[in-house]
Parts: sequence; C-alpha cells; structure tokens
Amino acid sequence: MYSAQEQRELLQKTEYYLSQIKDSATVLNAEDVEPLKKVLGYHEWKYYVKNDPVISDKEYDELFKSLEKTEAAHPHLISSDSPTQRISADASGDFPTVRHLEPMLSLSNSYNLEDLRKFHDQVIRKLKEEEDIAIQYAAEPKYDGSSISLLYENDVLVRAATRGNGIQGDDITQNVRTLRTVPLHVPFSKFDIYRAELRGEALIRLDFFEKINQAREKNGEALFANPRNAAAGGLRMKDPRDTAARGIEMFVYQIGYAENREEEEVLSRFNTHAETLKVLDQLGFKTSFPDHKVFDNVDDLFPFLEKWETARSDYPYEIDGMVVKVNPLDLHRKLGSTSHHPRWAIAYKFKARQATSRLLKVDYQVGKVGTITPVAKIQPVSLAGVTISSVSLHNEEFIRSKDIRLGDRVLVERAGDVIPYIVKTLPEFRDDSQVEIHFPKYCPVNDTEEKVELVKMQDEAAWRCPRCICGQQPLQKMIFFVSKDAMDVAGLGKSLVERFFTEKMVATIPDLYQLDYEKISRMEGFGEKSAENLKKSIEASKNRSLKRLLYALGIHHLGKRSSAIIAAEVNEIFDLEDWDEEKYNNLKDIGPVLAKNMTDFFQEKKNLDMIHRLKELGVNTYSTEEDRPTEIKDGPLSGKTILFTGALQQVSRKEAQKAAEQAGAKNISAVSSNLDYLVVGEKAGSKLKKARELGTVEIITEDEFYKILEE
Ligand code: IVH
Repeated sequence: MYSAQEQRELLQKTEYYLSQIKDSATVLNAEDVEPLKKVLGYHEWKYYVKNDPVISDKEYDELFKSLEKTEAAHPHLISSDSPTQRISADASGDFPTVRHLEPMLSLSNSYNLEDLRKFHDQVIRKLKEEEDIAIQYAAEPKYDGSSISLLYENDVLVRAATRGNGIQGDDITQNVRTLRTVPLHVPFSKFDIYRAELRGEALIRLDFFEKINQAREKNGEALFANPRNAAAGGLRMKDPRDTAARGIEMFVYQIGYAENREEEEVLSRFNTHAETLKVLDQLGFKTSFPDHKVFDNVDDLFPFLEKWETARSDYPYEIDGMVVKVNPLDLHRKLGSTSHHPRWAIAYKFKARQATSRLLKVDYQVGKVGTITPVAKIQPVSLAGVTISSVSLHNEEFIRSKDIRLGDRVLVERAGDVIPYIVKTLPEFRDDSQVEIHFPKYCPVNDTEEKVELVKMQDEAAWRCPRCICGQQPLQKMIFFVSKDAMDVAGLGKSLVERFFTEKMVATIPDLYQLDYEKISRMEGFGEKSAENLKKSIEASKNRSLKRLLYALGIHHLGKRSSAIIAAEVNEIFDLEDWDEEKYNNLKDIGPVLAKNMTDFFQEKKNLDMIHRLKELGVNTYSTEEDRPTEIKDGPLSGKTILFTGALQQVSRKEAQKAAEQAGAKNISAVSSNLDYLVVGEKAGSKLKKARELGTVEIITEDEFYKILEE
C-alpha cells in the first residue's frame, strides 16, 4: 500500500510534526492540514491494518488533536477524507467483510482530572442543563486488547467480527466460537431481546502471554511485542484450532445495539450502564462488572482511577487506562456520538509507559568493579510521569542483538517501578545519518597517558577495565559506598562525591570520614548549615549494620541478600579473615563465585587495612540487632510457608507478604509440596489449579488469612 520511499517521507514528517506540537492544543498552519492528514492516515494503517505501530498512542493522539484544532481554525479545509472525519483505516480483508449493526466507535482520551472535568462540562452543555448538575458515572478498566463485536440472534451466537474500520470488520465467527469465554447460547429472550450486538475486547492473560513467547523463543519463532498483537493475530488464524491454542479471552463491556422481534430498539430496557454490565455478567459473559464502580459525582472518580493506575501492574491482564461512562442510559441517547466517539464516555489513559525518542550518543560508565556499561543519551521524553534522558544499553551484546545505531529512533519503555529500557529501534525512521556503535577497546576514563585495554571474562557479558588504578574506580566505589542501599548517607549523592573527588578532598572510602567541614562550608553552594547537615549524616552512617557495611564494600557479586546472610553468621567483620571458600559455600544461597570473591577480598592486605581505618574512624564493624536473623518464633504462622496468588482485594500483595512475614511465615514463589498455605485472591489461575492437584496445600481466602493473623 505504501512504498518504502513514501514511508520514509511520512516518517520524516511524523518527527517534524511531533517536534512542532507542544501539546494537543497546538494549532498549526493551513498548509499543514494536508501533510498531517497523510501522516495520520499512515499511522492508522500501521496500527490497525499492520498491527505494527511506530509511534505511541499518546503521540498519535497529539497529532490527531492538532489536526482537529487546525481544521477547526480553517473550517473550509475540512474534507471527507480527513482522519478526523471518518472512523478509521481499511479492514484487512482476509476474512469476509461484514457490516456492524451499529458503528464501533473509538473513545476520546483524557489524562488528568482537568480533562475529566472538561468532559463533564461538555456533557452538561450538551444536555443543555442550566447549571452544573451531578451526573452519575461508571468507571471500569480499559482493556488493551483487540476489540470485537458479537452478534446474537434468537439466543444464539451468529456472528463475531473484528472492529475493522468501525463500520465494517472481518467475519471471524469460526475463530471466536473457539473462545471459551464467549458463550454460544445466551438467554437474551428472557429480556425480550431477539437481536443483540455486543462489544468487547479479546485479551491474553499476561502470564499466559509470557509462556507463549517463551515457547516461541524455544522454537526460534519471532516474539510478539505485546498481548494485544498476540490476540489480534490469534483471532485471524486460518485454522480455528490455532486460535483456540492461543488462550484468548473475551471481556464484554457494552451492548451496542438490541432489538425485539418487532425490530424495535429495546436498549432502554436497562436503566444504567452498571445494570447492563450486571445483566451481561449474569448471562454468562466475562465482563468488567466485577471491576467497575459507580460514582455520583465526577470529582469522586479520581481516587478510584488513581488506585487502578497503581494497581495496574498487579492486574492479570494488560490495561492501558480506565473508561469513564455516563451511567444512566437515557442520557446516552440524549448525548449521542460524533463520527469518532460517543459523547457519553471517555478513556482516562494511564501515563504512557512507552514513547519514541532519538538516540543522541552513547556514554560509557565505569562501574565499581571496572565494568563498562554503555548508556544511551536520548532526546528527553516523558514516561509514566518521569522525564527520561538516559537509558542503559547493558552491554555490547545488547546493542548488537537489537541492532541499535547512533542516531536511531528508539522505542523506550518504563513499566511501573522498572528502570527504563529500550524495547527496539525503529529502523523505519533511518536515513543516511545513522552510524554503527563502536564499543571502546580501551578504558574510556583512563585514556590520558598509556591506554588500558578492556578485557572480557569468560561467561560474562560485560567488558571490564582490569586496572585497579583505573581513574574512576575509587570514585565509583565511594559513590556506591554512600548510596541508599549501602551506608545510606543522606545528602551525599553522586555529584557531591564527584566534586570532592575532583577537588582532591577525598581519594578513597575512609577519606569520607575525614572531610574538612570548615572548607566545605566555604565552598560554592554550601553554607555552615548545609556543611553541618552533611557532617551529621556522615556521622550517622557510622552506626550502620554489618550487612550494610559488607554490601557497601562493593565486592563483586555480593548483593544485599547475600550480605545479610553472611553478616548473620559473624560477630565482627574481621572474623571473615579466617573464612575459607568452603565455609561460604556451606551457607544457603551463597554460590562458589561469590565464595571465591569473598575469600580473595578478605585475604588482600589493602582491603583489610582500609576496613581497619574505617574502624579507627568510628565506623561500626560489629554485628548489630539488625543483622541477627529475623525469624519470628512465636507468630501464628511461624515455620509455615505461604504464597499469595490472584488479585488481592484488601491490601497490595507486597503488604500482604510483609504481614505474613511478621506473623512468622516465609513467602515462597512456587506451588510445591513445601508450600503450607496458598492465599487466593480474585481470578487466581494456574497456581490455584496446581495446588488443588497437589492436594497437600491448604487453600485459604484473603479473609481466612486475616483471621489467622488475628489469632
Ligand atoms: S466502551 C463506543 N469500554 O477502547 C466505544 N471500550 O480506545 C465504547 N476498550 O474501541 C467503548 N476497554 O475497543 C469501552 N471497558 C471498555 C473498554 C473499551 C477497552 C477499547 C475499545 C475501544 C477502544 C477505544
């Protein structure tokens, strides 16, 4: 449909317009209308027909809204071929095309409370209310899947179709019939409904999706980018059995159209959207009913939406926002729709977790044991509310396997608390300016006099600088030493340590405890007060636990958990001078590599000297209260193992696990005969099944769990 040349030009224009648009209210010039229409048409094709978007939904929205605004400023330029004037791109045509009884529209988007209030104002205005009246709204998850319409006649499923261009879609009845979540016979006649067209979303559970991709990886097949693509592809399989194997589920969230035998519209049978959901739920569909909630006022919605945004990562399916719908159905009729979306509903989109940006350059950082980490500097983008300008590229292999080049446009993702990463490059955007990334051969910091060649250890992905005197290593070690998880010196961050280091006020870790505070108070940006505060927090760090001190030493492969395990075994850090590898190996969860690193470290005189100096300077080297194993011996769950599964209703999973630990239980991650309790939340899946099969696990509800805690 589009030639390579055309695509290249459209992608250049995409970048140009994205850079022009400050927000969705940017009005462009009259001469931008035509090219912008083409750009949007192209992205609709990429998204809907090819299932392979190259810009994020939010970026698409911004382009779309700018076109709308620009057209509004020059109404004579509005033509019927504009993306704002029709619903969407062409249906793909592999299956017979069928017409929906009622168009399947899109939703307009909102991103914050203000947008929602604006939506409410529009509702009020459209209803011609004199003043602001309270309107009841229902909110429910916005499933990020593939939308489907289901047609029932005479209580039987007669047709299922993809959304297609909204007016007509592809007939995929045979495939949809294989989805167990879609009932083939439904007693609509009880409600005097002869014909009903339902709307819903086909989805794949996230855990199942991972399994599909694992299997594909094993078989050398291309991986799916996300569950939505896997579901959309699955619905178009030539053989319905292949569809069935993909584990697709269908959530129904709306009755689009219903009529009785006399062909009279009968949706008015139900009073509210919530009631419709309840009926659909009762009729045997999987629906948003369990997850929806009704509010009497637009302002009351917000905490619920925010709660879902936080809970998003615990939800077993991909959701990209919430849908807010006017609850009374008579108002739906009064409000009607534009050609693009109903006026009675709006999507509240969660903060984008993906965005595209350009890779500007690669910096090479030297870590505490000399590891060289390539870090991509990208054009700053906002991701889930945080501006991201650098993203780790991990190692040389990562760069090669993703074929990342300097100057590439890249897709960046930040999911939940996860640090941002590059999902893929978008080679579609390449012109002639991209160049290969040459991983350095020599230490990037130590390149003044004689160059230090980087080395790569067997079985390790990272290149390292073998020189201990490598300029930055002592600096990196100090930065790590004071960091939050290590000695946690508040107010002493990376840049300050760097500053002290370049001003030659510190060279090695013990120097941090001999700072000249008088001098500091005279340094730019400091005063007596801030120097005093710094001193206080450095002094406070002298009393840290032994496990923190151990961890802070930055021994290769020594993590927080292993530090705690080792610290629990000794009285003072110097006891470790007498430990051999075997002694470490005897500890649970300590492997041979770490055992070797530990013994090497504690046999090296210069390391011991450093710790002795720290001790002289007042740093605690003894085991503390915090270091003793925290096993709770007399809790109601002492000695028991426990596992939480499914969506918990009362607290987050983390909180529940913490409560279990405080009651003496040990949280484990898999169902086996070692498991004592399985606590099941809503929609528990494979773990519950396995526990039932085993028969040895005590399966309890969330409420029962809390009863035990109260004992
Ligand atoms: S109601 C007339 N409810 O989001 C449109 N849509 O971005 C009424 N979607 O095409 C849609 N979850 O495929 C509605 N709970 C939900 C939804 C939902 C996902 C999809 C739907 C729609 C798209 C719009």
